[in-house]
This record gives sequence, C-alpha cells and structure tokens, in this order.
Amino acid sequence: MKQLIITAAIMLAAMAAQAKTLIVYYSYTNNVERIVDELSKQIDADVIEIEPAEKGLDYAADNYAIGSAQIAAIRENPDVASSYPAIDPVDVDLAQYSTVIIGAPLWWSNMAAPMQTFLFNYGAEMAGKNIGLIVSSASSGISGVEGDAKRLIPDGNFLSPCLWIRSAQTSNAKSMIEEWLKTIDYNNHTSDINNIHASDTATNSVYTLSGIKLLAETNLLAGIYIINGKKTLISK
Ligand SMILES: Cc1cc2nc3c(=O)[nH]c(=O)nc-3n(C[C@H](O)[C@H](O)[C@H](O)COP(=O)(O)O)c2cc1C
Repeated sequence: MKQLIITAAIMLAAMAAQAKTLIVYYSYTNNVERIVDELSKQIDADVIEIEPAEKGLDYAADNYAIGSAQIAAIRENPDVASSYPAIDPVDVDLAQYSTVIIGAPLWWSNMAAPMQTFLFNYGAEMAGKNIGLIVSSASSGISGVEGDAKRLIPDGNFLSPCLWIRSAQTSNAKSMIEEWLKTIDYNNHTSDINNIHASDTATNSVYTLSGIKLLAETNLLAGIYIINGKKTLISK
C-alpha cells in the first residue's frame, strides 16, 4: 500500500513536471520584455531573462556597431563557444519543461547575440521539446532568426509559425499573442493529457490513476491511464 502511494506520488510529480512551460527572453530596449509581460498574463509559465555579462554596453550606438560585431563573430564561427558574447549564469533545469518559448529581438537579420549564447549553451537540452519563437524587429523579416533558433536547437519540435511583432506593433501584443496561441494550438501541446484510441496502446507501461501497473496483456477499458508517464485518455 505504502509503495502504491509512493508510486502514485512520483507519477503525479512527473505529470506536473511534464507540461510546464518556460519563457526565456532577451530584451535590450524592452520591446520583447513588454511582449513577454503580456504573454505571461495569458499562459502559465516560468520566465527567465538573459542578461549579457558585460554591463552598460550601448548596442545601438554608432549604427549598432557593437551588436553588429557580435553578430558578425557568430556568423563567422557559429560552432565555436568563444564566438558568442558571455551572459550571466542562468539557473534553469530544462528537464522540468515540455515547452520553451523564446522571445528575442532581431539584430542584423539574426537573433540578438546574447540569446544565441543561451541557446548555444542549452539548445541540446531542448531536444524533443515544443519550441515557440517570438521575434521583435523594427522592420526586417524574421527568417534569419528562425534559422538561428533551428541551428541552435536542432532537435526542437518547432511550433509553427513563429510570431513576428514589429517594434511599432508592441502595443498590439495582447491580441497578436492571443491569436498566435490559438494558431499554434498551444493548449493542446501543453495539455498534460494525451488522447489515444485503445487500438494504439502499447501496454508495456500502463498504470491506473491510482498507480497500479497493468499487465501487458490487459484489455483496456476506455478511461484515463498513465502511459509512459503521461496522463492518457483512451477511447474505444
Ligand atoms: C544591434 C541591433 C541591430 C538591429 N538590427 C535590426 C535590423 O537589421 N532590422 C530591424 O528591423 N531591426 C533591427 N534592430 C531593431 C530591433 O530589432 C528592434 O528595435 C526590436 O524591437 C528590439 O527589441 P528589444 O526592445 O526587446 O531590444 C536592431 C537593434 C539592435 C540593438
């Protein structure tokens, strides 16, 4: 009995962990920050802000000279850690999240360099996770930023399309985000319940909600089970 309760508790913890969303963003002039503030009103998510290690840099000075040099260094040697500007240490356990939404400004047609640093360090840990991308630019199209995200998170499950919010549209973020969440079917991706038909069930890891493991040959009735650690609704 005790073991049953422990098993059930572990499974419930695993289920709670599985559907969590992380929003990770970088923002220099606060447009992305305003977008993320709005997004976090609409979804339940943890939020992390990326900060460059070097403080006080004026990325916009001299026709964006510093940002431009950082992007050029990454373009030249994208596979080398030293091409990426240092960021403050980030305390994150990506294993807790099934979905990561990235908010980033566009710099010279690419993803802002500090966010690229974060993804260079953590992109491999995002394999198999749902990845949403929100980009802010003054006017340039965002395909280069999308390309950076896909290069740095090669095994991410990208939720398509990305959301592009131009600087001048920042005050419309609320309705643009609402629309985007519907388009990418956000609720379904982050729901902690799977829907499958009984005939699709591989019965090697099926538990009842109260934590009883079912034998592989059990003929499942329609209902809710834990399959491979995920709450699953089986229909007949
Ligand atoms: C270094 C740098 C380069 C930029 N390059 C471009 C560009 O090529 N095209 C563009 O439309 N906007 C460019 N921008 C403008 C930003 O993408 C835009 O202002 C965005 O809203 C900034 O987001 P933030 O306020 O969150 O930092 C650049 C901004 C910086 C700082």
